[in-house]
This record gives sequence, C-alpha cells and structure tokens, in this order.
Amino acid sequence: PRITYIEHDGTEHTVEVGNGLSVMEGARDNDIPGIEADCGGACACATCHVYVDPSWIGKIPAKDDAEADMLDFAAAPTSGASRLACQIRVGDHLDGLIVRMPETQG
Ligand code: FES
Repeated sequence: PRITYIEHDGTEHTVEVGNGLSVMEGARDNDIPGIEADCGGACACATCHVYVDPSWIGKIPAKDDAEADMLDFAAAPTSGASRLACQIRVGDHLDGLIVRMPETQG
C-alpha cells in the first residue's frame, strides 16, 4: 500500500509500505522526518503523533484506550484526527492513506 506522509512544512513523501508494518515503521524505514517514535512502537511515548487526513478517519480501526491515554501526552495539540502512527497497522485497506505530522513531537 502507498502511504503519503506530509511534514509540517508541507513536504510530501509518498512511499510503499509493506502490509503488517505500522504507519510509524513506514516513516522510519523510509527516513521520513517528523515522527520520532522514541519508544520504538510500544504505545509508550506519543512521539509518533500524526493527524489522519479527514477523508480517512472513518476508514481506520478506532484507537483503543491505551492509545487514547498516551495521546494525552503528545507534545502538539491533539484533535479528533490525532493517532499514534505506531498503532495503525498497514494493510491493503489503507492504500492511499494520508497522514500529516505535527509541528513538534517533543
Ligand atoms: Fe512510541 Fe508510538 S512509537 S507511542
């Protein structure tokens, strides 16, 4: 699946991410800046905060309580579009997904 990551300054990166990886791992493996992922994907740092494009919010499995709780620790303001990129599992249903990175992760 192809995923588009948009940096806070508007720089876009569209890359192919393998099924089963997380949206965070897709950014990390392609050296896309803006997602720090200090905890390595354990839902324990909130430095992988992204804003899911409005057109995709309803198409992604809802966040669980652990993700919702950890998002409270995100450095940038959160919104209904906020997710932790390490908790979004890539699959064919996410082909074309667009996420935007916040101004800061820490
Ligand atoms: Fe730490 Fe996602 S990488 S919460």
